[in-house]
Amino acid sequence: MSSIFPTVSRMFVNCRVAFTARPIHRLLTSGKQYGYIEVSKRGERQNVGLLRLNRPKALNALCAGLMEELINAVEDFEADNAVGAIVLTGSDKAFAAGADIAEMDKYDFKDVYNKNFPVRWTEFYPKRKPLIAAVNGFALGGGCEVAMMCDIIYAGEKAQFGQPEILLGTIPGSGGTQRLVRAIGKSKAMEMILTGNRLSAQEAQEAGLVSKVFPDDQVVDESVKLGEKIGALSKLAVAIAREAVNQSQELPLSEGLKFERRVFQSSFATNDRKEGMKAFVEKRKANFTDS
Ligand code: CAA
Repeated sequence: MSSIFPTVSRMFVNCRVAFTARPIHRLLTSGKQYGYIEVSKRGERQNVGLLRLNRPKALNALCAGLMEELINAVEDFEADNAVGAIVLTGSDKAFAAGADIAEMDKYDFKDVYNKNFPVRWTEFYPKRKPLIAAVNGFALGGGCEVAMMCDIIYAGEKAQFGQPEILLGTIPGSGGTQRLVRAIGKSKAMEMILTGNRLSAQEAQEAGLVSKVFPDDQVVDESVKLGEKIGALSKLAVAIAREAVNQSQELPLSEGLKFERRVFQSSFATNDRKEGMKAFVEKRKANFTDS
């Protein structure tokens, strides 16, 4: 336990606003202590990792310390063979109100350039396991960008999505100008980014940003159920499928189709593909071994 204290101390130095507001560390299932997030396992088979941003006094603003904790906690879930999917959520009022403006206010060009801020944020994205955003309240700026980095977004009825950076004299810096365009199209994304106008949960669903909308008090449970469903399947097949879908965001169609064909063919080398098809033919439930 003592070995993590230097890391945790650094996080709090980076996150002074919340340090004064929330000095009490929470003990996690992994035995680690975090100040800005809560970590637990959910689902009947405890196969869903739940990450809850918990910096209420700043509406879960994404300060450097919080992002380091998130990266750390996701790494632990990635290493936990029992976990098949991860859900990321915030509070009823805010998924996250963006990057921490008070923290950024202190930066100048040299600071953000030298640290390549906020490139480190991309590192919380799990390499293998699906990440579901369960969004209630504000998902603004970096909060909207973090939701868009997730693989699937479920939203509560009162959720609001926006990229208000223009109102601060800057622009989205963690994928907003790229992922939002891919998610909802250029015209809608351009309008949001040039004005700071927000989308309601219903509008976000109609636009394709969000896959489902639920009453606010059900969005986390529904996200966990989704995680349980995915987590009960072959982790290997899920990881391969996710990788192929993600390639669609990067590659031209012909290259994406080639990639898909190759990884589809690769799946024929797995025990889970053999078991899945055998079980179908034998009219029984497949027993996947993630191999
Ligand atoms: N950073 C730091 N603190 C924040 C914050 C943020 N992004 N958003 C809210 N807070 C703090 C407020 O300063 C306030 O703190 P105090 O009580 O100490 O004054 C507290 O959270 C509550 O906020 P409000 O009183 O403003 O609450 P509200 O309900 O009246 O308004 C809101 C809510 C509309 C979300 C408003 O807080 C707001 O506009 N926040 C900023 C949203 C924003 O501009 N996000 C983009 C940030 S830039 C970015 O993310 C860059 C990037 O792409 C990487």
